[in-house]
Amino acid sequence: MNESVTFPSSAREALEKFPVVFQDNVDSTGFLGAAWAPGRVNLIGEHTDYNDGFVLPIAVDRVAALAGRTRSDDTVRLWSTHFQQYAQFSLAGLPETFVQQCCTLPAWARYVLGVAGELVKTGVTLVGFDAVVSGDVPLGGGMSSSAALEVATAQTCALFSEGHFTIGNQGATLTPMQVAALCQRAEHLASGVQCGILDQAASCLGCPGAALLLDCRSLSYRYLPFAAPELALLVIDTRVRRELATSAYNERRKQCEDAVHLLRNLIMHYEPENEAAQSIRALRDITQGQLSRYDSYLPAVLRRRASYVIAENERVLQAAKLLESSMPETIGPLLWQSHAGLRDDYEVSCLELDTLIELAQQVSGVLGARMMGGGFGGCTINLVRVEAVEALREAIDQQYLARTGQQASLDICYAASGPGNGWAI
Ligand code: GLA
Repeated sequence: MNESVTFPSSAREALEKFPVVFQDNVDSTGFLGAAWAPGRVNLIGEHTDYNDGFVLPIAVDRVAALAGRTRSDDTVRLWSTHFQQYAQFSLAGLPETFVQQCCTLPAWARYVLGVAGELVKTGVTLVGFDAVVSGDVPLGGGMSSSAALEVATAQTCALFSEGHFTIGNQGATLTPMQVAALCQRAEHLASGVQCGILDQAASCLGCPGAALLLDCRSLSYRYLPFAAPELALLVIDTRVRRELATSAYNERRKQCEDAVHLLRNLIMHYEPENEAAQSIRALRDITQGQLSRYDSYLPAVLRRRASYVIAENERVLQAAKLLESSMPETIGPLLWQSHAGLRDDYEVSCLELDTLIELAQQVSGVLGARMMGGGFGGCTINLVRVEAVEALREAIDQQYLARTGQQASLDICYAASGPGNGWAI
């Protein structure tokens, strides 16, 4: 193993499995290498990204990883350690052959194909490779396992291109934010979820000990300190995943667009002197005051959606100020409020998520908690005093199963660095 590269454990696992899984492959050429990218938690700013709003994620110490070698042809062969499954596609003809190849692949491999197709669109030349896909980001749990896989794929392609295309800030072919944007497009194509840029940006821009304040309109960002040894970031997995999540996600996005359209027309009609109204493009551009002046004209569902998003954007900016003043323990109340809004106004929570939040509320030393990610299952994020972690664990052990029929799992996460890659030998 190359001592100058620190491979995360999932990358090491993939590197070790590679010769076993692809032992009979005579077409492999090149050196053995690995690439990885982190999953993320989101402190606050849920469903604000596709409303041109603000988010405050943290890349965590869980990654998706690929390890393998280049081939002498245009084929990409993959083995997933999680699904114990092979998948294969061809780089020839991409991006035109994306749709035709996509439907023959298992869902996890579509993200890899999607990124390859998007990279080709940017003009880079890719080479075929064999790789083992591994990782320790819980799949489908709201910690962005798919974004981690997409970003790790881009890093793999960069490594295997041997310097023909690079990812970095100065003089590189693609900046981290360009990679995030192309991975977001790959996600749209591979999964049909019209997601925002939160997950991919958080994965590309991870920084140890820091949260990322990202403006999803301008794509400008700032790191805010998040290093408090007395606090734990606890992710609790409901262990439920619902099919409904994709269609409900796209429906929420459409409802926000409808609300913007109506509010813009109302403001232009009743405030003809307000020139700024012409440039309203997203809920980001509408204030609480404007919403309360016109919300009685909106259908009740759109009123609730808009009210949640506008309030959530304000909460993100408040939380950012508190982090900037190095007071992370004071953001707790904003997390509880965020959950209430997601449950009552945005209506993307579910019994299991609400149960975890209720249980967390009863444990002293839990400063704040809320559901995380798209919703309808997945995880909650809990900001907990270190000495209260065991009490929370006990409360969940004693009551969650009885109330939901599910077994939750708990995980402490740390703010970690962004993606990486390197040769193993
Ligand atoms: C999913 C999407 C993100 C974001 C969150 C909700 O994780 O991929 O773009 O919209 O849901 O905040």
